[in-house]
Amino acid sequence: MYVCLCNGVTDNQIKSAVQDGATTMRELYQETEAGSQCGKCCKHVKSILNEELLQL
Ligand code: FES
Repeated sequence: MYVCLCNGVTDNQIKSAVQDGATTMRELYQETEAGSQCGKCCKHVKSILNEELLQL
């Protein structure tokens, strides 16, 4: 499912980035560019990040 429509980033890409070591929004942005344009997805991206970090 697309989370960041501006950059075409899916929830699976965000989860993979966390599994590859991203632990902050900045690191996720560097990996996927999610949230780099309109910013509307940031809240959703952050909640996926937090969920994934809890599962590590
Ligand atoms: Fe992610 Fe616009 S939807 S920056």
